[in-house]
Amino acid sequence: MVNTKVNLCGLELDNPIIPASGTFGFGYEFAELYDINCLGTFSFKGTTLEPRFGNPTPRIAECTSGMINSVGLQNPGVHDVIAKELPKLKEVFDKKVIANVGGFSVEEYVECCKLLDKEEQVGILEINISCPNVHAGGTNFGTSPEGAKEVIKAVKAVTTKPVIAKLTPNVTDITEIAVACEEAGADGISLINTLFGMRIDLKSKKPVIANKMGGFSGPAIFPVALRAVYQVYDKVKIPIIGIGGVTTAKDVIEMMLAGATAVQVGAANLVNPYACRDIINDLPMMMEKYNIKDLNEIIGGAH
Ligand code: FUM
Repeated sequence: MVNTKVNLCGLELDNPIIPASGTFGFGYEFAELYDINCLGTFSFKGTTLEPRFGNPTPRIAECTSGMINSVGLQNPGVHDVIAKELPKLKEVFDKKVIANVGGFSVEEYVECCKLLDKEEQVGILEINISCPNVHAGGTNFGTSPEGAKEVIKAVKAVTTKPVIAKLTPNVTDITEIAVACEEAGADGISLINTLFGMRIDLKSKKPVIANKMGGFSGPAIFPVALRAVYQVYDKVKIPIIGIGGVTTAKDVIEMMLAGATAVQVGAANLVNPYACRDIINDLPMMMEKYNIKDLNEIIGGAH
């Protein structure tokens, strides 16, 4: 018997597998396919104070070993999330979830987190300061240590729940931003969000995506994410969630060796809706293959 249990910011997870925000809706959509209680937890669709229609279409472009999205934080707004989405989720998921929060001003992040702080099923707040698809907020905060610090400090002041900062790779030195978040009181760091990219359609000779550019994700970015996790692990003491191109149980082990305590799976859910369940099923076998008895013993093991 191997041990897959990990502790993420005080939350006991049966395993470190977490579907990433924006790739798993509010969970109940996937509960029609399998019992999602097998997940460690999951991060629900990025939520803002007001409802958002999102960006014009097309919003998706296919790429070799990945995809680009420019959804633009489409969501029903935090009031509807609390009134309609969380009650539906509660019917199918017994565990605490991660609320992913987006914003356009410090005040908006704060108001949204104040409301989510009252929700029992929310175990962790994941503050998205890294969305590449909106013209204000998002990466405007996450690309400078000062901006990141300001948001995290303000959010920490209005919640007792653990706060995780979700970081963008579209910076020169991601470790500076991670350190700033830790100094501001963050309880954890999740990284990486998508890489800024684009495609051009050869027939129309115009960008494929209406918003021209978007966030690149999928297996192609795994080595970039792994590198970022490895670097950040050297600089902070708080736990890290590794995100970016994770597709297999082997990828999970590699991320944990780099320094991740838990791992989010994103684009893989869009290719195979059973991806997380499959990874969870494969993980014990893969641990045995590589002579790993307890996942906790390998966190940061590659350093
Ligand atoms: O456009 C989006 O909704 C994506 C958000 C993100 O990558 O943070």
